[in-house]
Order: sequence, then structure tokens, then C-alpha cells
Amino acid sequence: MHPSSPLVAFLFGLLLAVASHAEGGHEGHATHGAHSTEGAHAEPSRQAGILVENFALLDHRGAFHELRGYADRSAIVLFVHGNGCPIARHALPVLHELARELKERGVAFLLLNANLQDDRDSIAAEAREWQVELPILVDESQLVAEALGVTRTAEAIVIDPRTWRVAYRGPVDDRLHYQTQRPARAHYLRDALEDVLAGREVAKPLRDAAGCLILFPEADPAAHAEISYSETIAPLLEQRCRSCHRSGGVAPWAMTGYPMVRGWSPMMREMLRTKRMPPWHADPDVSHFRNDISLDVSELRTLVHWIEAGAPRGEGPDPLANSPRPPPPEWTHGEPDWILELPEQEIPPTGVVPYRYETIELETEEDLFVRGVELKPSNARVMHHGLAWIRYPKGHAAPRVQGPRFTRGMFAAYVPGRENEPFPDGAGYFVPAGSRLRFQLHYNSTGRAETDTPRLGLYLAEAPLRHELKTGSVARFDFEIPPGAREHEEEAVAEIDRDILIYRLSPHMHLRGKRMSIEARYPDGRREMLLSVPRYDFNWQRQYVLDPPREIPAGSTLHVRAAFDNSEHNPANPDPSVPVRYGEQTFEEMLFGYFLYRDLDTPLAATD
Ligand code: HEC
Repeated sequence: MHPSSPLVAFLFGLLLAVASHAEGGHEGHATHGAHSTEGAHAEPSRQAGILVENFALLDHRGAFHELRGYADRSAIVLFVHGNGCPIARHALPVLHELARELKERGVAFLLLNANLQDDRDSIAAEAREWQVELPILVDESQLVAEALGVTRTAEAIVIDPRTWRVAYRGPVDDRLHYQTQRPARAHYLRDALEDVLAGREVAKPLRDAAGCLILFPEADPAAHAEISYSETIAPLLEQRCRSCHRSGGVAPWAMTGYPMVRGWSPMMREMLRTKRMPPWHADPDVSHFRNDISLDVSELRTLVHWIEAGAPRGEGPDPLANSPRPPPPEWTHGEPDWILELPEQEIPPTGVVPYRYETIELETEEDLFVRGVELKPSNARVMHHGLAWIRYPKGHAAPRVQGPRFTRGMFAAYVPGRENEPFPDGAGYFVPAGSRLRFQLHYNSTGRAETDTPRLGLYLAEAPLRHELKTGSVARFDFEIPPGAREHEEEAVAEIDRDILIYRLSPHMHLRGKRMSIEARYPDGRREMLLSVPRYDFNWQRQYVLDPPREIPAGSTLHVRAAFDNSEHNPANPDPSVPVRYGEQTFEEMLFGYFLYRDLDTPLAATD
């Protein structure tokens, strides 16, 4: 290993971080881990005292956990679990007992599974069989376990949320070894927790843990330094990030070449490890979506490993610099056939702006078949959202929809973070001659007077469309979220009264929205989870395009389960001290599971 290699620099930095924290008494530090010069595989950083950077993982039930989300706890225990490991299994009763006992004192207990051979289903099966009550975080990329220097299961890692450092790591007690089963004499984990709760240092913060060795085939920093920017990283960024991270794109910075990427690399690592980027919020184990932009596990590993190796430039051309992406086109799907302009809107510099409504006449004698639509502001700073409805002429009834009536004729939306997906083939909206269009516009003030002139672009079909699209919803209006509630659950159910085909799903809540799932229960008793968004983000109100679309027979029900966080721990919460009810403004709440669908009264093939 050459002393100037990025790997050495990285490890050296790690050592400095550890050393600078070793404020005496931490004898465990110097005797293990990264001091070894035998090569990268020799337990690179199994240390106490190290800083635990933020991360986010889903557990075996699909629930979202972010380390910093436990900031208000007195201590956090991460116990390294693994299916089929007898030592880990033996430790469970003690862990459960401790978890119950210390719950009131604010200690959080989480299990961590980083085994490559275990997946969510097998972990859930192990949890059922061994009655595991604690959440098992699934570290399928191994990035969290690698950064912690984990080598074996059955290790307990105590994190002190005041410093985010490892206060203790080692076995739960002295009972557990490979063969012996004598009663415990020393209760290391319990004692360490008592120390942390009392604000004392743990006398021996690092102990060898006997557990099952975990295979980390890619935890080899020397190999990470060889990952090619030119051939591997740049194409990955091009494919996964540059649709937004380009000049004129929606992201705040553009991936214009290596210097930009290198400069942003630590922040990229943080966004990747906390699942904030790329912005895709559906649980990857539930359904399949055509517009999924998430990274797969191996892409995630490669990108983060390259960054951890110091984001080396290496040899070869710089594809990001050599082929700059043109700015996005004005209209996502090319020049519309007809562009309608709404009256100019004046937005006051401050204050809450009530919803605005505009109605425009369609000046045409002809029936229109709309095969595509885009509603957009001229000033994206101020428009929060816009919706458009068809108002049918006298004598033409608005088409019935599933769920509350207000989605009848709804046919265009501009909402935060939504990409403008094309309509399914052969489907669209029928706009009879004499219709008017009705708009709801919601603006945010910015601190200065602003204007906006929204436009609606219509793409027209010559011949009649085969299918009429509709928006339905599963909704709830009668809820109240108590002040300070951290996890307020609500459920909404809609009965489907005719055979339909659902193309897309779209959860909608406001700033307290925390998670939402949408499940179909079929007349034959079968249940299918269609979408789960374990951490809802108000800024990204996507449509999840089901692949394939789902037939939902008459007599089925759609169940939406949602949770709201009205506590101070929700950084988006405008006011944790008030009860929150249904309302239009962002500081009020909504609970909608929208779905784009068509009636299946004709036996036509699904063609999305
Ligand atoms: C669909 C558009 C989109 C895609 C795809 C996307 N980003 Fe972003 N990115 C954004 C937006 C918008 C922001 C601004 C913060 C926000 O809204 O969350 C952002 C912010 C970031 C930031 C933090 C900078 C800041 O100011 O907050 C980083 C780092 C980042 N993205 C990296 C990535 C990487 C790496 C990828 C690909 C793996 C990626 N992004 C893919 C839209 C995108």
C-alpha cells in the first residue's frame, strides 16, 4: 500500500477521528482494529469511540428507521443479528428483557442484519420463529455494518445520542460463547447502558464478541480505489442522477464533470446512506413500478465505496464533462397541440394565500380527445400546486368516479416533485364541445411580490380514444391529529363497485405525513400490497406507475393506512403544539390515496 493512496488517507482520517476522541480511559481503542498493517481485511475499524454517521434502513416489516430519528433517546443499542446463528438466537431473551426494562428510560433497541444470504422474507420468517419483537434493520448493501467495522453477529453496539459515538461494543454478557451455556456472571451490555444513562464513560468500551462471522466480500478499500470514475461512476450518475442534476434541471446543482462530482461527493454519500437521493420513496420489496428511479444494491455499494475511497479520478475521459446534457425541454413531451394561457396571478409578498380558482372557456366547436396534458407555472418559485378539471356542458353528465366526487373530470395536476408521465397507450380524456376548464391554483408567498401565468398544454388525438382515464381516491376527512403525536395512525377504505384497471397510485398528505400504504383486498379474500411509502416526503408527490397495471374486480376494497408525525421531531412540522384536522392549506392535513384508472367494462387488453 502506498502511503499516499486514498485508502491510507481515508483510514488515517478515521484514526484521527478516533484518536481525537480517546479522552483517556478507553484502553480498548489501541489494541484492536485499524492499526493493523496486514491489509484491508484485518478488521479495518472495529473500534469503540467512533462516530456513527447517520443512516436509514428499512426493517424486516418494511418500516423506515433513521439513526438520527432516535436523537431524543437516552441510548441506542444496535445488536448484530443473523438468521440461523445460535449465539445471536441465545442472546434474544436477554435483549428483549433489557428492552422492556429500559424502555421507560428511553433506550432504543434495534437489530441489524447484514448477512448477504438473508433477505427480508427469510429474516421475517426467522423473526416469527424466534419471536423477535424488535425491528430487524436490513442492511442489504452492508454499508452500515462495514462503516461500523462489524465482523460478527451477536455484537451489541451502544450508541450515545449525545455524541453519536460508540460507547460500548461487545457481547451482551459473558454467558454466550460457541459451546458453553453457563449462567451469566458479567452483564456487559446492561452495565454499559447504566454507565451511558448516568453520563459515565464505559470502563471497557471494547470487548471481543463471539458470534457468527459475516462475509463482507466487498469490504476491501484497496479495491474501492480501483473503481473507475470514467467507466463506472460517470455512466451511473448519468443514468441515475443527471435527469435532474443538470443545468436548468430541478436539482440545485449540476453534475457537469468530475470536479463538481468530487466536491459534492461527501454530501452524495450522506444522501445515499440516508435514502434521500435519488428521490424515490416506495419500498422496493412491494410491487414494481415502471418509473422506479432508485439505485439497486450493487449500484449503491459501488457509488458509496468509490466515495469512501476518496472519489479517485483515475484514468480515462470524463463523460460528464464531454457530453453536457442540454437543459430540459420547455414541455416534457414536446410542443403541445394547443396551449391555453390562464390569467396572470399576483402573489402578495407575505401571508397565507387562499386557493385561487379560474375557469376558462374552450373556444372550439369540436369534441376533443386529449391523449396528453401538462399544466405548468411560468414562475415555479411561487406555485405550490395546480389542478385542472373538465366542466362538462349541460346534458353531458360527468363520468362517475370511485371515491369522493371531487375527482370527477380531474385531468391535470402540477404538484411538487411529480414528473409528467405520459398517459397509457390509447387512454386519455374526452372533452365534449362546450366544456369549460376549471383550475385550482395554490401559491406560496416568497417575501416579495411575484406574478405567475400558468399554462396548460394539450396533446390531442385525431381518432376517439379507446379508454377514458379517471382519477379515484381513498380519502378521509374526519380525523384529528393530537398535538405532539409522533405516530398518529389513520385508515381509509374505499369500496370498488365495478371492475377497474389501476395504472398509478399517488399518496397525498401534507407536512405531517409520515408513511402511507395502499392495499387491495379482493373478493376472493386475497390481499395484495400495491404500494408502501415508508417515509413520505411532501416535496416528492410522485405517481407510482404500476407495472403491470392491476385489475381490481368489483367488490374489492382499497385500504389506505397512513401515519402522521405532529411532534417536534418532524423537522417539517410547522407547529407541534396544535391539533391538526383536514384542511386545504399545507399547515392543515389531508389523507388521500389517489389512483389513476379506467373502467373495465370492455374486455380490452391492458396496454400501459
Ligand atoms: C428526480 C430528480 C432528482 C434525481 C433523479 C436526483 N436528484 Fe439529487 N436532488 C434533487 C433535488 C430537487 C434536490 C434538492 C433537495 C431536495 O429537494 O431534496 C437534490 C439534492 C441532492 C443533493 C444535496 C444537495 C442539496 O442541496 O440538498 C445531493 C448530494 C444529491 N441530490 C445527489 C444525488 C445523486 C447522487 C443522485 C443519483 C444517485 C440524485 N441526486 C438524483 C433532485 C434529484
